[in-house]
Amino acid sequence: MSKLINVKYNKKPCYDICIEKNFKALAGKIGEIYEGKKKACIVTDSTVGPLYAETLTNAVKDCFSEIVVFTFKAGEESKNMDTVQDGMEFLLKNNFTRKDVILALGGGVVGDTAGFIASIYMRGIDFIQIPSTLLACVDSSVGGKTGVDYKGYKNIVGAFKMPRLVYINTGLLSSLTARQYYSGMGEVLKYGLIMDAKYYEWILDNMYGIFDLKPSILEEMIEKSCLCKQKVVESDPLEEGLRKILNFGHTLGHAIEKHVNFKLLHGECVALGMICAAHISWKRGKISMEDFFEIRDMMVPFNLPITIEDIDVKEVVKLTKNDKKNDSGSKKAKFVLLSKVGKAVFDEEVSDEEMLTALAEIHYTEEDMKA
Ligand code: GLY
Repeated sequence: MSKLINVKYNKKPCYDICIEKNFKALAGKIGEIYEGKKKACIVTDSTVGPLYAETLTNAVKDCFSEIVVFTFKAGEESKNMDTVQDGMEFLLKNNFTRKDVILALGGGVVGDTAGFIASIYMRGIDFIQIPSTLLACVDSSVGGKTGVDYKGYKNIVGAFKMPRLVYINTGLLSSLTARQYYSGMGEVLKYGLIMDAKYYEWILDNMYGIFDLKPSILEEMIEKSCLCKQKVVESDPLEEGLRKILNFGHTLGHAIEKHVNFKLLHGECVALGMICAAHISWKRGKISMEDFFEIRDMMVPFNLPITIEDIDVKEVVKLTKNDKKNDSGSKKAKFVLLSKVGKAVFDEEVSDEEMLTALAEIHYTEEDMKA
């Protein structure tokens, strides 16, 4: 059964999130948005493009006067201004005007980069998010955050640009590697922990359906996650306050991601970051020791890491100061912490010592392994 969520921006209906099993309903949805024919540019990467660009082109060929495909090399290292420039040159070469549309087909890197191109090309053109990873379905395709990395800072150049439509085709998820799929579970678990204890229980209760990508469970999980995200972004679209809770696990998560040079996936780093943030919450008496260990152990069935080997923890702490999620000038990192399972608080100043103690909980050295 398909699902539809309407997301408001400034209290007005802004875009739909459609959750479907295939592309059959996409042409109809595009027809509801646009009268007359426009050109479309599918922006995708070298992993997703060869798998799905043609299927997508066929699914929407009657909606557009012309469809072109811009493909860039898959990976976080492409999320930069060079790709943005190449994308804009491609649009110029193909005579795209402000009336035309970008279709972002891919995971978080594609959605963020294509969305950013859409936000600046000719002062902004429309874009549609067609996420192909679990992580992009439940998080990055919703809420209008777009951007790229710059000079070692993650997502530091960007814009808020709302998509015209988020079309989730759950059929695309079947080609994900197990590792990529479970990486998305990091963001799914995040919603339960920060804002919905009942959802957290639901995830535990439906663990086996989640493992097996059971279509009804998968759809329900994506819907529940998108409803959580909708609630937050409608109340604080530009991250002036509440939206910061979505960064739970991301301060140390981003630092670890960068420290290991993106060898771990985003959701895996967020899982480690969430364990550290839960540890700090426990040490501050906000949650119990039992809660902390339950949160940590909850990552295990979803193949998310709870330890990491041989990192330079001091270097990781240093990298948190490079995270844009911290206010500049502040000596202490600002964290999202838990006040209980299902409730988060934001803008909590955390000292380097607290971070180092939390990192000691997840960090194993070669010596530890021998002992
Ligand atoms: N991914 C966090 C946010 O959209 O705010």
